[in-house]
Amino acid sequence: MTFHISKPVLALLLLGTVAPPSSHAFRNGNTPQTTPAVSTSTKTNTDPVVTEAPMPFKWPIIGTLPEFFSRGGVDGLITVYESMYKDYGPVYRMSLMGDDEIVFSDPQIFDQILRKEGKFPIGGAEGISTFTDYYVENDMQHAVKSMGHGPDWKEWRSSLNPDIFVLWDTYLPSIADACAKISKVAGREVTEEKTLEISDFWSRAAFDMFSAIIYGESPQTTDSRKATAEDIEFVIASKKAFDVTGSLVTDPLQKVFGGDLYKEFVVNIEKTITLSNKRGMENIRSAKETSAKHQAAAAAQAKADGSDSDSSSGGCPITAIQNKLTGRNANIPTENLNPSFIERLVSRGELAPDAITELQGPLLMAGVDTTAYAMSWFFLNMASNPEVQTKLAEELSEKLNGADLTTVDQIESLTYLQACYRESHRLTPVAPISAKTLEQDITVVSGGKAYEVSAGQRMSLNLRGMPMDPEFVEDPTSFKPERFSEDAVKARKGTPAALALDHPIMHDPFGKGKRRCIGANVAKAEMFCLAARLLQDYEISLVDPNEAVHSPTKSWSAKQKLMQLADPYPAMLLTPRA
Ligand code: HEM
Repeated sequence: MTFHISKPVLALLLLGTVAPPSSHAFRNGNTPQTTPAVSTSTKTNTDPVVTEAPMPFKWPIIGTLPEFFSRGGVDGLITVYESMYKDYGPVYRMSLMGDDEIVFSDPQIFDQILRKEGKFPIGGAEGISTFTDYYVENDMQHAVKSMGHGPDWKEWRSSLNPDIFVLWDTYLPSIADACAKISKVAGREVTEEKTLEISDFWSRAAFDMFSAIIYGESPQTTDSRKATAEDIEFVIASKKAFDVTGSLVTDPLQKVFGGDLYKEFVVNIEKTITLSNKRGMENIRSAKETSAKHQAAAAAQAKADGSDSDSSSGGCPITAIQNKLTGRNANIPTENLNPSFIERLVSRGELAPDAITELQGPLLMAGVDTTAYAMSWFFLNMASNPEVQTKLAEELSEKLNGADLTTVDQIESLTYLQACYRESHRLTPVAPISAKTLEQDITVVSGGKAYEVSAGQRMSLNLRGMPMDPEFVEDPTSFKPERFSEDAVKARKGTPAALALDHPIMHDPFGKGKRRCIGANVAKAEMFCLAARLLQDYEISLVDPNEAVHSPTKSWSAKQKLMQLADPYPAMLLTPRA
């Protein structure tokens, strides 16, 4: 969600065939910094010197594009950011077809940027123009608001924040129920009968869990004996639209000339929106019916008790107050394990039914495959590191004793699980950068140097810089969740290693500040619940151990789609634990 190249890929590909100049011979005169200059404080004794960050040779029009391609291009984005850090140091610039970027490695710079964010910050998701254009062309007014950065965005965000971001933990019972259903059939579907490829399994699991949040129950698309054709169509179409978007972002000519890829995107996003609208309308109707049924029952009870003061409260003033609440303790009638997101929105009464209907398609687009991508890396790391997986299974068994993960206390007690997710994000992030753009100029300071950045220029934090640098992180290419143990974190406090590993922006892939992913908390809940259930029930292994993340002879590589993906995703076995 954080990456975009705004100019035609056709041109990029043609240019990619031009032999790139040697980076050393063609630098623009700035000396690259070979040792990252990282300070542990933004304050220095002397005034920071305004410095121009180095960049590779900048050609007219195409900018540093040849260098970009020589280092891996769009597919090899991870290698691009890793190798640029090694050769140009902690701060450098790139310019792709007029799209300028300054890349930092010191996460403290992000704090300085966030302090200047203002009331209506620019969001990372805004760069995905295929979605915005579709919403505008189809008059999806509520969805369009989410892709801007003015008062409309604020109104959109405020209308959804309470029920998805703040009250995330109220969905834990439904998520855990979805996970139990997923786990029950996982071994049969993936390993015994092989009805599902493991990568599709992660997508369907993400769809089942997110549907349980929005609609209150899992559609069980991971169970081939129960999944309906319509649900399967839904999950396939939304995955396709998401994946094709990844390609369209780097190939805008497709839209201009109505290319096949763009047509594929339109067919699939239309299917997703149509099916989610249908599902939304059904759920709103059912939420209203459940509410009416409960009110009628309460009124009948009140009548029987001889009181008629408030039909929805059965006459009880406390219940009457609770019924008006829409927060954690709201008395929202439901036939599900907990009130679904739709039931909460209907009960809150701030959004019209057509707005509630319209917002689900975009949320499903934003919330399903993103989670599937992050989970697919997590489980690939688990399968690649059996000793870590065994240790995690032991923690789960000790703390949960076979139970589902349904409470915040349980999540907090699972410190090794949290460390495994942190390590998975460090070693195999879903994007190599975390990006920000401001509407005003800014001067940022790092390592005693000041860098002036103009309004509108993309500022990226290089997640392949410090977290992968052996100067700050011991044995950085290995998967070692122990580096996030309480003792390890305490021991490195105040050192550059703490910046590389423990600065809040390094914790997860959801961004920071007012535009932080609105689904961050529910996505984390889903990923924790599924890991807790699956790893108590199964040992997950690679069919070919040679495909491990750290294997030098693996057949897959990390490729940039809308997010990073192991491509082709290696096959796995799910063996029931004794
Ligand atoms: C592991 C899964 C996910 C990842 C890695 C992810 C990542 C991101 C990132 C990086 C951003 C941009 C943040 C910024 O601008 O600073 C974002 C925004 C957003 N995400 Fe997520 N996301 C995930 C799951 C979800 C889920 C489950 C939902 C559904 C509720 C969701 C809905 C959104 C929306 C609507 C925005 C735009 C928010 C705004 O601009 O105010 N995401 N996400």
